[in-house]
Amino acid sequence: MTAARITVNGQDTPIAPAAPHTSLLDLLRERGLTGTKEGCAEGECGACAVLVARPGTHEATDWVAVNACLLPAASLDGQEVVTSEGLAPTTGVGDTCALHPVQAEMAARGGSQCGYCTPGFVCSMAAEYYRPDRRPHADPAGPGGDPEHGPNGFDLHALSGNLCRCTGYRPIRDAAFAVGTPAEDDPLARRREQSPPEPVATTYTRDGSTYLRKSTLDETLRLLRERPDAVVVAGSTDWGVEVNIRSRRADCVVAVDRLPELRELRVASDHIEIGAALTLTEIERRLGGAVPLLAALLPQFASRLIRNGATLGGNLGTGSPIGDSPPALLALEASVLLADADGEREVPLAEYFTGYRQSVRRPGELIRAVRVPLPLSPVTAFHKIAKRRFDDISSVAVAFALDIVDGTVRKARIGLGGVAATPIRALAAEAALEGEPWTAETVEAAARVLRTEGTPLDDHRASAAYRAEMLGQSLRKLYARATEAVSS
Ligand SMILES: Cc1cc2nc3c(=O)[nH]c(=O)nc-3n(C[C@H](O)[C@H](O)[C@H](O)COP(=O)(O)OP(=O)(O)OC[C@H]3O[C@@H](n4cnc5c(N)ncnc54)[C@H](O)[C@@H]3O)c2cc1C
Ligand code: FES
Ligand code: FES
Repeated sequence: MTAARITVNGQDTPIAPAAPHTSLLDLLRERGLTGTKEGCAEGECGACAVLVARPGTHEATDWVAVNACLLPAASLDGQEVVTSEGLAPTTGVGDTCALHPVQAEMAARGGSQCGYCTPGFVCSMAAEYYRPDRRPHADPAGPGGDPEHGPNGFDLHALSGNLCRCTGYRPIRDAAFAVGTPAEDDPLARRREQSPPEPVATTYTRDGSTYLRKSTLDETLRLLRERPDAVVVAGSTDWGVEVNIRSRRADCVVAVDRLPELRELRVASDHIEIGAALTLTEIERRLGGAVPLLAALLPQFASRLIRNGATLGGNLGTGSPIGDSPPALLALEASVLLADADGEREVPLAEYFTGYRQSVRRPGELIRAVRVPLPLSPVTAFHKIAKRRFDDISSVAVAFALDIVDGTVRKARIGLGGVAATPIRALAAEAALEGEPWTAETVEAAARVLRTEGTPLDDHRASAAYRAEMLGQSLRKLYARATEAVSS
C-alpha cells in the first residue's frame, strides 16, 4: 500500500514514489522545499532541522525540532511537519517578505551570513520560541543570571545541535535572547491547543522493501515473530546514520517509537519504569529531576535535536560500549523489561550485555521499558569525558551512586562506558569503597583500583592510558565536589 502522506506546511504531501528508506530531508527537497539543507546527513550539524507536532508536556501539542536527515519520511505518515518556509504567516501568493519573529530577529541581529545553516537554526529557535513553559530569567550577565538562558527564558541548549561555520555564534545568541512571546493569533501557537495527529498504522512498500508501523505492542510482537529479520527502529538517530553513511538497507523496517505501551512513565513505591520509546527530551522533562543521576546525564547526551528523537530502547538496543545511558543505568541497578509474543521477562542490566554490541535480547524481542529501583542512592554523579562539552560521543563515561551513612560508604555502585567491549560495573572499586570511611585516603585507594578496571583501548578519541587516568580522576572529582557541597 502506498497511500502514506504527510502534512507539510499545511499541504497534503504524498510520500510515494519515495523509497521506504528515503529521509524526510530528501523528500522535502525533492518537493521543492530546499530551505531544509543537508550539511552532514548524520545528525551533527542541524542544517536539516524541521518542526514536528508531537504530544506536549504542558499543552496538547509541542512543536519539536528534529533532524530531517535521520528520519525516514515513511515514519511521518499522517503527521504534521513545518519547515523554515512554513514558519512565516503568508498573506497570499507572491508574499515573500513576511518573516516569522525568530527569522526577523536573526535578520536584524546579523545572525546569518552564507545562510546555509540558517533554516535549521530558525527551526530549532522556533521550537524553543513555542516551548510553553519558557519563562523570563535573570539577565545572563547580572546577579543570578546563567549564561545559557536569556532574559526571555530562551534555553541555549535548544541550539546545541546546530552548527554555523561563518557567522559566529554571538549574533545568533543575541537573536535567540531577543525573541519575545508568540502573539495571541500566532497560528503555530494556537495549534498547540489541539492534539497532535495520532500515529497511524503504516504499510509502505516500494521495490520489495517495506516500512511498517503497527498500532499496538501485541500486533508488533506478532509481526516480529513472523519476521525476526526485521530491523526495529525507534527515533532513528542510530539507524538513520547507518542508512545515510553506511548505505544500510532493510527489506523490512518496523517502527516502535509511537507504541503507547513503550511510552509510559510509571512511578511505583519501589521503582520507576521508563518506557523504551519515550524520547530523552520527554524523559528529561517528565522526570523533572526526580532521578538526579539521569538529570545529570541527559543534558550531556548529544544535542537537543538528537534527544528529541533518541530513546533509551535505542541506546540499549545498539549495545554500544560507549552509549551514555548504560553506565548511569548500571549505577542505578536498573533492569530491562524484554517483551516478545510469548510474554515478558526482566533482566538486570548488569546481565544484559554479553559481548561487543551483543546482548541477551533474542530475535523477535523488544525492550519495552527500563526499571529503576527505589529508593535512590543520594550521592550521584555522571562524568562524561569527551572532546566537546555537548554533541559528542564519550571517550569514557563514569556514573556513581553511593550511600554514605554516618561518614561510611554503605553501598557503592559505579557504571563505566568506553573501557571494555561492553558497559561494565567497576566491581573492584565498589568493593574498595564499601564499608570504608568516606575520606580522602579511602577515595585515593579506590581511585587507584578504579583506574585498573576494564581493558581500555587506544583509538582516535583517546589513548588507553588517558582513559584509565580519567577513571581515577573521576572518583577524586566526585569526592572534591561532595566535600565542597557539605562545607559550603
Ligand atoms: C549526532 C549524534 C550524536 C549522538 N550522541 C550520542 C551521545 O552523546 N551519547 C550516546 O549514548 N549516543 C549518542 N548517539 C547515538 C544515538 O543517538 C543513541 O544511541 C540513541 O539513544 C538511539 O536511540 P534511537 O531511538 O534513535 O535508536 P534507533 O536508531 O531507532 O535504533 C537503534 C538500535 O536500537 C534498536 N532498538 C530501538 N528501539 C528498540 C527497542 N525498543 N527494543 C529493542 N531494540 C530497539 C534498533 O533495532 C537499532 O538497532 C548520537 C547519535 C548521533 C547521530
Ligand atoms: S544534515 Fe546535518 S544534521 Fe542533518
Ligand atoms: S551562516 Fe554560513 S554556516 Fe551559518
